[in-house]
Amino acid sequence: MLNELEKIKKEFLDSIETIKDSKTLEELRVKFLGRKSGLTSVLRSLGTLIQEERVLVGQKANVLRKDIEARLEEIKHNLGQKTGKEVSIDHTLPGLPLSLGKEHPITKTIREIVDIFSPLGFQVATGPEIETDYYNFEALNFPPEHPARDEQDSFQLLGGKYLLRTQTSPVQIRVMEKTKPPVRIISPGVCYRRDNPDASHSPMFHQVEGLAVDTDIHFTDLKGVLSEFIHQMFGKEIKMRFVPSFFPFTEPSAEVAISCIICGGKGCSTCGRTGWLEVLGAGMVHPNVFKKVHYDPKKYTGFAFGMGVERIAMLKYGVGDIRLFYQNNLQFLRQF
Ligand code: DAH
Repeated sequence: MLNELEKIKKEFLDSIETIKDSKTLEELRVKFLGRKSGLTSVLRSLGTLIQEERVLVGQKANVLRKDIEARLEEIKHNLGQKTGKEVSIDHTLPGLPLSLGKEHPITKTIREIVDIFSPLGFQVATGPEIETDYYNFEALNFPPEHPARDEQDSFQLLGGKYLLRTQTSPVQIRVMEKTKPPVRIISPGVCYRRDNPDASHSPMFHQVEGLAVDTDIHFTDLKGVLSEFIHQMFGKEIKMRFVPSFFPFTEPSAEVAISCIICGGKGCSTCGRTGWLEVLGAGMVHPNVFKKVHYDPKKYTGFAFGMGVERIAMLKYGVGDIRLFYQNNLQFLRQF
């Protein structure tokens, strides 16, 4: 029987040379593995052998069957590749398009803001998100018990040694400490406040800060720069107005509003029937802030402004709920 197996093996190896297509392959498969093949009859007659022979022959026969199967499989695969190449693959066809990712709407809005201010001479500066009370409040003229702090409840770290910054304004201080005037920077970045999330609040959000300091900076310069920004961002037809306001680090301070982009200023639900949408805070740098960074307030003047990026993006793209920016909903994100 062992001789028989040897013979089958040799015959198989000789005949695989003749395989040239799937038809001859199938013929050989039937011949060597089919019900009437020599191998099958060896396996069938195992029962007639004595125990030791049965084990030995059985093992060899099964190994041979596995070898034949593997070899035929390999040949089949090679045949498929060959015919595949000749028949069905057109190498001149263009490749499948890769789907590219998209910029997140907040990143895109920050880039648009930076692209407007850069040509006006503003350089991008950044600062840490983990700040000290000094930079986030004190140097910006928020004394320890000042009620203006109440609006900016923060997350404390290390028992109050640090906090997550509530605004990008501390970057003003960090830049002025290291630079002599003239200064002209914008600073985009993440801020945090202990606010409960709703349609217009998120405990994490983005701001862009602006600061210009020189010997002859006036409120008109602030107005000119912001008007250029508003018109490039929202369109030439948009009107802008300054409303007196309060920020500890600017004096005078103003809130800047634009004519409602939904109703054109007539009054609708988006603008609360006022015709105006508040978009940012601004003002002339307070002398106390200059004193903290050792700038002479008699010699230098400056303006500052700060805007919420989400707010700008929501107005520009008509997004009704700030939480949509953070939910990783691709259907929403792909629209920008
Ligand atoms: N930091 C202020 C806020 O988060 C926004 C702001 C207002 C920034 C006036 C300024 C400014 O630089 O001059 O509410």
